Order: sequence, then C-alpha cells, then structure tokens
Amino acid sequence: MKRGVGVGVIGYGTIGAGVVRLLRQRVKAHGDRLGFPVRLARVADLDTSSDRGIKLPTGVLIDDARALIDDPSVNVVVELVGGVEPARTFILEALRAGKHVVTANKALLSEHGVALSREAEKRGLLLGFEASVGGGIPIVRTIKESLAGDTNEEVYGILNGTANYILSAMSEGEGEFEEVLARAQAMGLAEADPSYDVDGIDSVHKLVILVGLAFGKKIKARSVHVEGIRSVSSKEIAYAREFGYRVKLLAVARDTPAGVEARVHPSMVPESHLLAQVSGAYNAVCIKGRALGNSVYYGQGAGMMPTATAVLGDILEAARSLRDERPPSSEPWGQPLARLSSARVIPMGDTAHEHYLRLTVVDKPGALARISSILADEGIGIATLSQHEIETRGAVPVVLRTYRSAESAMKRALARVGRLRDNRAKPVLLRVEEGLGGRE
Ligand code: HSE
Repeated sequence: MKRGVGVGVIGYGTIGAGVVRLLRQRVKAHGDRLGFPVRLARVADLDTSSDRGIKLPTGVLIDDARALIDDPSVNVVVELVGGVEPARTFILEALRAGKHVVTANKALLSEHGVALSREAEKRGLLLGFEASVGGGIPIVRTIKESLAGDTNEEVYGILNGTANYILSAMSEGEGEFEEVLARAQAMGLAEADPSYDVDGIDSVHKLVILVGLAFGKKIKARSVHVEGIRSVSSKEIAYAREFGYRVKLLAVARDTPAGVEARVHPSMVPESHLLAQVSGAYNAVCIKGRALGNSVYYGQGAGMMPTATAVLGDILEAARSLRDERPPSSEPWGQPLARLSSARVIPMGDTAHEHYLRLTVVDKPGALARISSILADEGIGIATLSQHEIETRGAVPVVLRTYRSAESAMKRALARVGRLRDNRAKPVLLRVEEGLGGRE
C-alpha cells in the first residue's frame, strides 16, 4: 500500500471530536513515526451542523455512515456511535468490506465481542477496542500483550468515572447521592441519563471485556451480579471511615475452578489499598497474576482527549498492519478465538464475603441478642459491633462487621432480621473487600 492510511470516524460526538482533533493535530508526527501517512479521510454523523470547534475541509463531514464505509479512501473505520445497533451493523459491514475497525463500544463488545472478532479474525483484520475499558488507561493491550505470559487470577477495579466522582464527592461531604448527581449533571460530568453509570451496568460491560482478555473466558453480562450506588448514603461513607474503609463501586472478577466470580457493587475498600485513594472521575484496574503478583493501572477513565489517545493507539496499530501488508500483531482477545472458552459465572449467593451491616433497631433489652442469635444460627460470626446514638423515637443504628460468610446465609439472616419487631428500617448491607489481590 503506497497511499497511506485513510481514517473514517463514525460518530462525531465528544470522543469522535477528540479523535478528529488528535488525528489532525498530530498528522505529521504520526506520519513521521510510521514512515507512512495517516490522515483523516471522512467523518460521518447524522448531525452535520453542530459546531464542534473544529474546521474540517468541505466534504469530509457527511451524514451517511454507509457511504463512509464504502469510501475507497477509508481503510480504517472508527465506530464511536455507542449502543448495539446500528453500531454492530456498521462494524460488520466495515469488516466485510476489508477495513480495519476501531471501537470504544463496551456495551456492544460485552454482548457481541466474540461474534465481531470472528469476522475480524477470519479476514486478518484489526478489531481494536483499547478505548472500551478505562478510557485513556492502556489496559487492553497491556493484558493481551504484556501480561500474555502469565496466568491472571484476579482482575478488579474502579471502572466507572461518574460513579467514582459521585462517591468521592459524597465522601467529601458534598451531599447525598441525588444532590451530588444533579450537580455533576449541571457541570456536564454526568450524563443526562446516568443509569448505565450509577446502576453499575457500564462497569459490568467493562468487566465482561476484562474477563475475556485476562482469563480467556466468555461470560454473559446478564450473569454478573450488579448493584449500583443509588442507595449508598453518606452515613455508610461515614461509618466506613470509622472502620478504616472507603466506599467504592467495584467491579471484581476471579478465575476459580468452580467458575468465574464476577460482580459489580458498592464495596468497602481498606484505606491501605491503592483503590481507596482513587478519587474523582479516575479509574484504576488491578490485576493479580500468578507470576507477576499484583499490579495496578491508574488514569483518566473517561473524557474526550484521554479516550481519544486510546483510539489513536489502535488506529496506529491498524496503520502499521496496512503499511507492512500483514495482519495485526495480535488477535482481538490476545489469542485465537477458538481458545476462548465459555465460563459459568458463580451465582452471587455462592460467594463469600466479610459484610458490613447497618441495622436500625429498637433500643430495648434483648433486641441485639435476638439479632445476634439469628446471625449465629446462619453461621455468621460478628467481628465488630457498635451501637450509636439514638436516632428517632427509640431506634438506634447498630453497625456491625462480620467475618467471612456465605452471601446466601447473609441474605437469609437479613430476611429474618427484617421480620423482627425490633427492626425499624431496611438493613443496609455492603461487602467488605479484605481479600482483594489475594489478601484473605
Ligand atoms: N461513562 C463512563 C464513565 C465513561 O463514567 O466512566 C465511558 O466509559
């Protein structure tokens, strides 16, 4: 190939504009680095009139993604539309037209990543998705290439910047969930529809991708236990601090002989763990490898320019492959698809954790005894317990931490506690993550 590489970007939103900006700003640097020109050929978006603060030559911005895919001057198609359709069809059409594809679409990849990779693999094309997890953190290539020689046992972290921003602000005393969310939306830090971010769904999509890369296992997003942060109150954050913990929305996966443990929920993280220090919209991914031990990858998990750098890394990989007229240097998941296996996700009830519980209990003799006898009956040991000042009409908050116990036993215990007359409010349950990185 003599002409150089033409890049077509479908989706001219925030990330699309970042990619266009970076491609144009660094066109000479990219060309010099590769010894081969890489230029923006086309941008497609239904909205061709909004001002993105970028002046494109006439004819570059079009409203027809199919025309971009069919354009012979486009060799690399960047899909930044998001969602499942029409993004899935665009990617399939681009691959079938023999074009390398780069995407940031974690919702699509978590559901159809393997099917799309099959098309790419069959044709020796790139399906690059560095930007799908951790925004600007180069975690995808790190796992599939740099850590390929090891056996990864755990992958976990803070995968959603919006949720982490909200929990961090609550932890700084800036208010309860709803007020902090409303302020974040007003400042453009949270989406108008924040549900994927605050309900943990975005983290599930990213965790499914990490499990595929790190363990070589295909799991279904709908099998992953998910709880978001809407019910986290500043009380939990304050009690967590009292016990030496921070509340974080964690995504956790472990490869075990019984299947993959994969879950997303608010957790209490020990202050001594690096994840406890990750605040604001930042992300961090931790990996425990059998040979490497623990490693942590930290950075900006979202945003225009950080995410654009991840997209550019993939574009340049596609450009190298076009320059040298060879397939990309590694498969989409770091190994041939035939080697990926489907794995069972261990039901949440079969996992075990240390638990934090906040109960609101009537302040009468025997109330605590009845509660602790239920816990004992379910085989749950209490590690620490504190009763706090009277809250309302004779009810007191009782905050306790348990030893490691089965989730199913805790759920049964909570149902029984909920039926006691001593119980005055819905118990609050959080998992305490003392076992991260193999520390039990
Ligand atoms: N909405 C995501 C977040 C960024 O808040 O982290 C894109 O993955």
